[in-house]
Amino acid sequence: MTEFENIQQFRQGIIPADWMQNMNLDDFLGAMDEQTLPARQMLANYQCAVYEVETKFKVLNERLGIKYDGNPIESIKTRVKSLESIILKVQRKKLPLSIESIEENIRDIAGIRVICSFEEDVFRIARYFLEQDDITLIEKKDYINNPKPNGYRSLHLIVQVPIFTELGKKQVYVEVQLRTIAMDFWASLEHKLRYKKTLTAEQLEALSKELAICADECADLDRRMEYVRSEIVPEN
Ligand code: GTP
Ligand code: MG
Repeated sequence: MTEFENIQQFRQGIIPADWMQNMNLDDFLGAMDEQTLPARQMLANYQCAVYEVETKFKVLNERLGIKYDGNPIESIKTRVKSLESIILKVQRKKLPLSIESIEENIRDIAGIRVICSFEEDVFRIARYFLEQDDITLIEKKDYINNPKPNGYRSLHLIVQVPIFTELGKKQVYVEVQLRTIAMDFWASLEHKLRYKKTLTAEQLEALSKELAICADECADLDRRMEYVRSEIVPEN
């Protein structure tokens, strides 16, 4: 078969993904865009993993809401990375271009952010989630007890969750970020600053300093709110 025929068959899902090993960018883009079956199947796996994990947090919210009097979760946000940003990340990290390589190396394609009112709930929800026997913890970064130098705080988990498809069971990586409302408020603003390209170096430095102070104040606010809650609802 010619390479062109191979690509056509791959696009239609007739030949399997392991045909595509260490491609160069042009061949990869020629073989795979969002419309092709392999890409749709890959992205659908991540969407399914997001559904599974989001449901787990909704269930925990319901159950722990009864046990501890008050729902621990304020809101949940989810996203699946676009094929374009997946490919950009693969290139940035100088990884081989293939579905296998993407699935093994890019572990934040499925993303879920869980926002709680209180720091205590962040750790409690994470503990109950990780105790579930179909969740495999791959990596944990505790930026709450160890904030980043810029002041960023959140609890990050990379986990694997099984999804059940017509092709069988598949383990999928999901990135979970857990944080308080105050941490989320801060991170959203810092994210805007990061992508603002029109600031001078001096402005950027001044605003970064200001944000670092805000991060300390957010942490302080979290502690004080938690203290007040513990006085109102001591059984928590
Ligand atoms: P990538 O940057 O995704 O390759 O991940 P990493 O290996 O550096 O992981 P890390 O856990 O540090 O960050 C993953 C995600 O957390 C990012 O994509 C952001 O969504 C969020 N994040 C991490 N650091 C910051 C930060 O300083 N500010 C903001 N606003 N978000 C951050
Ligand atoms: Mg990321």
